[in-house]
Amino acid sequence: IENEKKKLISSLMRKIPDFPKPGILFCLIFYRDICPLLKHPEAFSAAIDLLTSHIKDTYPNVELIVGLDARGFLFGPGIAIKLGVGFVPVRKQGKLPGETVSIPCEKEYGKDMLEMQKDAIASGQKVVIVDDLLATGGTLLTSCKLVEQQEGIVLGCVVLFELTELNGAGRLPVKCFSLLQS
Ligand code: PRP
Ligand code: ADE
Ligand code: MG
Repeated sequence: IENEKKKLISSLMRKIPDFPKPGILFCLIFYRDICPLLKHPEAFSAAIDLLTSHIKDTYPNVELIVGLDARGFLFGPGIAIKLGVGFVPVRKQGKLPGETVSIPCEKEYGKDMLEMQKDAIASGQKVVIVDDLLATGGTLLTSCKLVEQQEGIVLGCVVLFELTELNGAGRLPVKCFSLLQS
């Protein structure tokens, strides 16, 4: 059943060439559009179920899900609710009120500044970070740093899709589980 669910999810991740820039990187990597998946209720909920099960089995002591602006917000909150833990957003610069911590981030096709509210994570709190996709790993690496800067403990990262050609997992300080890989 798990393989059937993965096949369905995979069939709904559209490959788009030359977005958001021609060739993205080395002309090998296609943009993976998750919009068809989001429109398919069975596949969308299968994706959230499978990611939640992995976290439950691997990190039963997780206390908080951290989700990444913007596409990590499509998966993180559903997972947090199923796990019965809270959700903390990492946002792009200038979107969070109050005191924030910021770290610059370099990703596959651009740069960003990522931010988290200063009181978002208590010292020693155990966190799993959720995003839609791992490419170069810049986004997840920066998010790990934001959590660690607040003395949170990153147990691991989970994503729907990993572009293995870019070796992003090797840049991360923790394991990154991906449901599907290129
Ligand atoms: C995309 C994707 C990941 C990131 C992965 O985010 O959602 O967060 O790139 O790339 P990396 O591993 O090279 O860092 P992006 O900021 O492009 O768009 P979004 O706001 O739609 O999530
Ligand atoms: N984020 C970074 N690289 C990406 C890609 N190739 N497809 C979708 N999202 C991405
Ligand atoms: Mg993103």
